[in-house]
Amino acid sequence: METNDGVAATGDAAPDNAETSTPEIPAFAEVPEEVHGPLPVAELHLHIEGTLEPELIFALAERNGIQLPYADLDELRSRYEFTDLQSFLDLYYANMAVLRTEQDFADMTRAYLSRAALAGVRHAEIMLDPQAHLSRGVALETCVNGVASVLAVSEQEFGISTLLIAAFLRDLSEDSALEVLEQLLAMNAQIAGIGLDSAEVGHPPAKFQRLFSRAKDAGLHRIAHAGEEGPPSYIIDALDLLAVERIDHGIRCMEDPELVERLVHALTPLTVCPLSNVRLRAVDTLAEHPLPAMLAAGLNVSVNSDDPAYFGGYVDDNFAQLKSVIGLSEFDCVRMAANSIRSSFASEERKTEMLAELASSGH
Ligand code: HPA
Ligand code: ZN
Repeated sequence: METNDGVAATGDAAPDNAETSTPEIPAFAEVPEEVHGPLPVAELHLHIEGTLEPELIFALAERNGIQLPYADLDELRSRYEFTDLQSFLDLYYANMAVLRTEQDFADMTRAYLSRAALAGVRHAEIMLDPQAHLSRGVALETCVNGVASVLAVSEQEFGISTLLIAAFLRDLSEDSALEVLEQLLAMNAQIAGIGLDSAEVGHPPAKFQRLFSRAKDAGLHRIAHAGEEGPPSYIIDALDLLAVERIDHGIRCMEDPELVERLVHALTPLTVCPLSNVRLRAVDTLAEHPLPAMLAAGLNVSVNSDDPAYFGGYVDDNFAQLKSVIGLSEFDCVRMAANSIRSSFASEERKTEMLAELASSGH
């Protein structure tokens, strides 16, 4: 599985006398995608509300009789120029206005899963922002049941096993988050864990210690965005104060060599989202993305799409651009696919199944 890069199928060193040599056989890395299909991966960093494509925003607005502040798709698309995380979040929250019924949440989820299946996703751990819907007067049951109803048939219909993660907005209070978590537990919502997202800077992990402690007591998995725009100390605090099992983004760990050493030793998963980082200007260009340095340092990194409808691509697009723009090798892509599977909260049996598929995928 991990030795295809540059080694496979190149054959023994060909003699220089071209007339007698056999035609060059392409390396596996050059085999076109349509031959062996996309890399099978687990998507670990995905906001379901960030999968709302412009066309679906317009379709749901029409169905719900909502007047959008954009004349057409082009005008909406012209807003997808972000200067930082907050400029994206403003549009992301505004567009959620079209999500009103269980059916809306179900349609959004179905659209993501059908696209993700084409991208090679075999397992998805999907974040939902319940507070962003409650504040608009949409009931917790409406958003959770709408998404969960489709996740329940995902493995059968799309070949994608799924888990749902309730993400809490760090720019709101811890009391608000605790209240929603208690409601989720009381309604026996099928959530596997909790996350922490939204505006990072000024909202350090220390603010949410009671929330994460309650989640741990309730047997839930715990993840948090940290080190996207926030400093490396937020990553340290997410680990030490919140006992998170994975860090979402985490790219700014590279500013702290001691932290990198700690993350490498603990095999802490970092769910990196390259196209997101470029679109939100966390890095200037993909060519300058720290991912190659993170791989070289031995960090447990995976590739994820974050909010694919807003950032120019799904997980397959992220891999394709990493290869074409920064020349990431097939070996590194396979390594990150394996990292994503091993770092998931799927059962050991499911992980073994996915790793076997990866091994026989031709990548
Ligand atoms: N960062 C923080 N919060 C978010 C993001 C993100 O990339 N996407 C949706 N909420
Ligand atoms: Zn995110």
